[in-house]
Amino acid sequence: MSGSSGINAVLDAIETKKFGGELSGEQISAVVSGYTSGEVPDYQMSALLMAIFTKGMSRSETVALTRTMADSGRRYSFPDCVDKHSTGGVGDKVSLTALPIVAACGAPVAKLSGRGLGITGGTIDKLEAVPGFTFDLSEKRFREQVETVGLAITEAGNLAPADKAIYALRDTTGTVDSLPLIGSSIVSKKAATGAGYLLYDVKCGSGAFMKTPEQAGELARLLVELSEALGVKASALITDMRNPLGSAVGNALEVRESVAFLKGEPAPADLAEMAGIVAARLLRLKGVSEPERAIREALSSGAAYGKLREFVAAQGGDVGFLDAPVVSGEVREVRAEKSGYVAAFDALGVGRGALVLGAGREKKGEALDYGAGVEVLVRAGYRVEAGQTVALLYGGRNVERAARLVGDALLLEDKPVAAPPVILDGL
Ligand code: URA
Repeated sequence: MSGSSGINAVLDAIETKKFGGELSGEQISAVVSGYTSGEVPDYQMSALLMAIFTKGMSRSETVALTRTMADSGRRYSFPDCVDKHSTGGVGDKVSLTALPIVAACGAPVAKLSGRGLGITGGTIDKLEAVPGFTFDLSEKRFREQVETVGLAITEAGNLAPADKAIYALRDTTGTVDSLPLIGSSIVSKKAATGAGYLLYDVKCGSGAFMKTPEQAGELARLLVELSEALGVKASALITDMRNPLGSAVGNALEVRESVAFLKGEPAPADLAEMAGIVAARLLRLKGVSEPERAIREALSSGAAYGKLREFVAAQGGDVGFLDAPVVSGEVREVRAEKSGYVAAFDALGVGRGALVLGAGREKKGEALDYGAGVEVLVRAGYRVEAGQTVALLYGGRNVERAARLVGDALLLEDKPVAAPPVILDGL
């Protein structure tokens, strides 16, 4: 590309988009490569992103943006592998539980993961609670691990660098919450990682980016369409995030709950249901017949837990930690202020509580306390009495603030409440 073609392209693109016009694939490609090469400055790219935020993008523009960002760095190819993506939730340990099951059932997993964003946790942070665990895998090591263990998780690294640059700009210019920008950002990274089969878990509710089933449905359709346009077989679930998933929220706490579930110890019903449904969906995408039976066998034989151990060891993690996960020894009880039936243990409040205790980051780059978090002891539909312990707080940071956030998150009603469904919809 000539020296000024990125600048010309971005100026044209701003003019077109601010009046609601359609950008060509060539324009999008010139702008994105101009921005990642440093030729297009932040202020022009920000103006274009804001025009996209207000005017939207057609499907063909969104596909072109996704493809351009996917092609902006290394592209791996794992056509026989599965991957899953969650749009982010509170207590979301589905990757830690469903993926070892899927791998134990013979479907190889080549997964890209991220860190927590705001109150939503990330698989990288959760697994880094295991001493020694690393996501910094070369392409060769990632590929070998997929072949030998059948389960490997990497971070974005040099995959889709254009998304990394644009996402950082969106984060500081009020342009994160745009459907075409979210969809192209997620799918470009997944397509660059190269798994042939993808399941999107679009979370919906107070603890998720998508607050309503309509918004979540729209994002789910977009993610599936963009993936299929880039040659990936995809499916999506829309799942509840008004309440945290399972009881544990926080990195080591979630590893502990996941291990207990995989070992066949008592586990929250919503976590067991969700892990089983996600695993079955992934196996069905791969064409495995009777996935439910395979899943039951993988759990009852210990093969799924064995796969988690093999995977953790392969990525440098201390498997001894899985046998006895270390969580914070500083524990404080939260009690119900009145009696009633639990309408929700609001995921937003519980997520904020866990975050301020140190399970998430209040500021960019902040060090986590891996042993910190919240354990909810009552769930939607339960009866609680005034003074009953409803949650445990782990960790020593901001304990009073966390206690208020978690206490206020317990939403009680006078009349009995039915437990909400875990899966709201599916594509
Ligand atoms: N996660 C992503 O990877 N990208 C977005 O734009 C939003 C959430």
